[in-house]
Parts: sequence; structure tokens; C-alpha cells
Amino acid sequence: MIQLKKKFAVLGHPISHSLSPRIHQHFATQFGIHLDYQRIDVESTNFKKILSGLKQEGYEGLNITLPLKNLAYEICDELSSKADYTKSVNTISIKNNKLIGDTTDGLGLVTDLLTKNVSLENKKILVIGAGGASNGVMCDLISQRPQSIFLTNRTITKSHDMSEYWSSLAKDNNVLLDILNLKEDITFDLIINATSSSLGNDSAIFPENLNGYFWYDMMYGKQTPFLLKAEQNKAKFSDGLGMLVEQAAAAFNIWHHQKPDTKSIYQIL
Ligand SMILES: NC(=O)c1ccc[n+]([C@@H]2O[C@H](COP(=O)([O-])OP(=O)(O)OC[C@H]3O[C@@H](n4cnc5c(N)ncnc54)[C@H](OP(=O)(O)O)[C@@H]3O)[C@@H](O)[C@H]2O)c1
Repeated sequence: MIQLKKKFAVLGHPISHSLSPRIHQHFATQFGIHLDYQRIDVESTNFKKILSGLKQEGYEGLNITLPLKNLAYEICDELSSKADYTKSVNTISIKNNKLIGDTTDGLGLVTDLLTKNVSLENKKILVIGAGGASNGVMCDLISQRPQSIFLTNRTITKSHDMSEYWSSLAKDNNVLLDILNLKEDITFDLIINATSSSLGNDSAIFPENLNGYFWYDMMYGKQTPFLLKAEQNKAKFSDGLGMLVEQAAAAFNIWHHQKPDTKSIYQIL
């Protein structure tokens, strides 16, 4: 009997570099699921129209990447509480003609860190950046109950807005949330670069003299100025490939109710 392929896709712009099709195909083979997983280049202006076309074509799920995560949050018919809180959607399930939005970026980051034996409980964390990615992981970071999360960003007013937005969740979890004070000399357990500073040709603007035991760059696939700094400081470090893989595994679990093994994908990628 011929088994029909289930239709999925990743949407964003640009999208040609996306590793998601390879990751999801690899996960699907672990469970004998027949998958048709496409890359679709979509700009903000035609996102809504494309979504409605994909619904008609029988797509069951979509991953959403830059620059559409916030727009997806606005368009979805239903949201998980985390997607609602973070105002970001990277995973859409299509059921009964409805778009149901969720976000797995934060879980992806935390799972990758814990897999790398970087524990977060009671630890001092610095998050650099105040855009979609940094806000998108705050729920999951706070839920690990670190001792403190310090925030900083090139445009520092955005860190203040971010701190205000997350203050009540942090307080409920006994997490100290503060803005990095450059005069204070803190050695962080973990420094997370959640900026897009390595994407373009701008030079990366970070606070001077950062000290940390583990440096994590959400960017992957190249040597970044941030990871170079970590190396110079003789600290442990990682790029964000594991976050990408683990957020994909969490999305796969939402769609197929199966937890894929993530270790074997790294050789393929
Ligand atoms: N590994 C993964 O699975 C994963 C998942 C999600 C995102 N990411 C990565 O995370 C990064 C951020 O994405 P995003 O969605 O948060 O982007 P975004 O919403 O556009 O935010 C960009 C952030 O980067 C800062 N920035 C930009 N250029 C900079 C520079 N030259 N120096 C210092 N800071 C700079 C911005 O500061 P201003 O406010 O001053 O402009 C802002 O805080 C991207 O590299 C993305 O690829 C990775």
C-alpha cells in the first residue's frame, strides 16, 4: 500500500540555508514517517496569503523563522501559553483549518545547554541582545531558576523594556532580573549571545571585559567574534547548532508525538 507523505515546511526569508528539512527528514526516518518537508521563501508582505494557500494544500505543520516569528504570533488562531507570553511562534500545527502556534526556541536552548552539562539552576546568566531570540528564550531560562539573569543590548533602552516585561515571571520564580552594570565586575556562569551581530557586516558591539565560564552563541555555522572572545578568555563555548537541532526535536514532538534521538544528526549536518 502506498503511504501518503505528510506535508510540512519551514517558512522565512532568506531560507535557502535552512537545515530544517534535513533535520526533520532524519527524525522522520527514525519512526518510519513519510515526510515531505519543504523550504518556502516568504516575506512578511505575503505571509498571510501563503499560509492560507498551504492550509488548502493540506500542510500539517510549519516551522517559522526570521523575520516572521512575531507576525506568526499575530496571525495564529490559537497559541500555547509560552507562545503567548513570548509573542513569538516558530512552530505551527494546522488542525481543522486552524493555525495553532507554539514556540520551541527556549526549550531548544535549555535542552542543548543541559546536554552539554551546563546547569542553570542557581547560576548567574548574562543575556546579550533584546530582540526576538532573547525574548523568545526567557520563559524557559527563568523556569530553570537561575540565581540571576542580567540583560544588556547595543540599544540599552530595549533591555530596560525587556526587564520590565519579564519582571513578574522572574519574581514568581525567585530569579533576580537586572540590567548589566558595566562598573560591576561579575564572573558569569553562562554568557548567551542572542544578537544578530554575526549575520551582517557590522562590527559586533558587546560590553568590554566580559568574564564567564561558558559562552553560548545562538548563531551557528561560523567562527563569530563572540566565540573568538570566549577562546581568548580560555572559557568553554558553543555555537547554536544544538539549539537549532533541539528546537526542531521539540517541534517534531508537537507534530508527531514522538521524541527523536538528536545525537545522530550532528554527523549528517
Ligand atoms: N540557534 C538557533 O536555533 C537560533 C534560534 C533563533 C535565533 N537564532 C539567532 O539569534 C540571533 C538573533 O535573532 P533575533 O531574532 O533576536 O534578531 P532580532 O530580533 O533582529 O534582534 C537582533 C538583536 O541583535 C542586536 N544586534 C544587531 N547587530 C548588532 C551588532 N553589530 N552588535 C551588537 N548587537 C547587535 C540588536 O541590537 P539593537 O536592539 O541595538 O538593534 C538586537 O538586540 C540571530 O543570529 C539568529 O540567527 C538562532
